[in-house]
Amino acid sequence: MRWSAVSLSAPSVTPVILDVTDQESIDKAAKIVSETVDHLDVFVNNAGILDDHDDSILDLSVDRLRRMFEINTIGPLLVTQAFVPLLRKSAAGRIINVSSGAGQLTDMGSAVPAYGISKTALNGVTGKFAASLKSVGIAVNAVDPGWVRTEMGGSEAPRSVEQGADTIVWLATQAPQSTTGLFLRDRKPIPW
Ligand SMILES: NC(=O)c1ccc[n+]([C@@H]2O[C@H](COP(=O)([O-])OP(=O)(O)OC[C@H]3O[C@@H](n4cnc5c(N)ncnc54)[C@H](OP(=O)(O)O)[C@@H]3O)[C@@H](O)[C@H]2O)c1
Repeated sequence: MRWSAVSLSAPSVTPVILDVTDQESIDKAAKIVSETVDHLDVFVNNAGILDDHDDSILDLSVDRLRRMFEINTIGPLLVTQAFVPLLRKSAAGRIINVSSGAGQLTDMGSAVPAYGISKTALNGVTGKFAASLKSVGIAVNAVDPGWVRTEMGGSEAPRSVEQGADTIVWLATQAPQSTTGLFLRDRKPIPW
């Protein structure tokens, strides 16, 4: 499992191994990063899984649903908790949760139910962190990157990695700090 932290003010990158389902691993990563940088400007929760057997809610296995929640929802929650102290030390901290249109309540198709529900819940996690951190100036948003040509998205996906990452990079670097508590696609808010 790979993860890396970059402070915008620092010229170097420090890769840190992290399993988002393992609290010990999360705490170790947070300790390593806090010993490397004195603050964190941007934090992206990108890790996620999609299950090939996630076909229908009618026979959805609870074990699959639990696994999906562990990685796609609870993982980002725990990792964010661990890194908030470092983000608080930034003049303008930003947290970006990579969600999915599959979790959009206003466009709830039948496909990939466990994945979709886990992303709906991730959007809830996003809203709660946004509300809780607004008073300290940390912006928290969720992004739907669209269908992207990654290992998860496959080679048929219409979007390049650059296109998929565009809104995430924009939120990390250019969006007004007041942009918080939103679900975005193509740099624009979309309904939850
Ligand atoms: N691709 C799309 O079309 C699409 C569409 C909508 C949303 N998204 C979202 O975009 C994000 C990135 O997806 P992707 O397309 O880049 O998928 P990907 O190619 O399958 O990459 C997923 C990444 O998550 C990491 N990961 C999985 N389990 C982890 C764990 N327990 N701890 C730490 N890292 C873990 C994987 O690391 P290892 O390889 O080391 O396991 C891998 O680097 C995901 O949140 C996904 O749901 C993707």
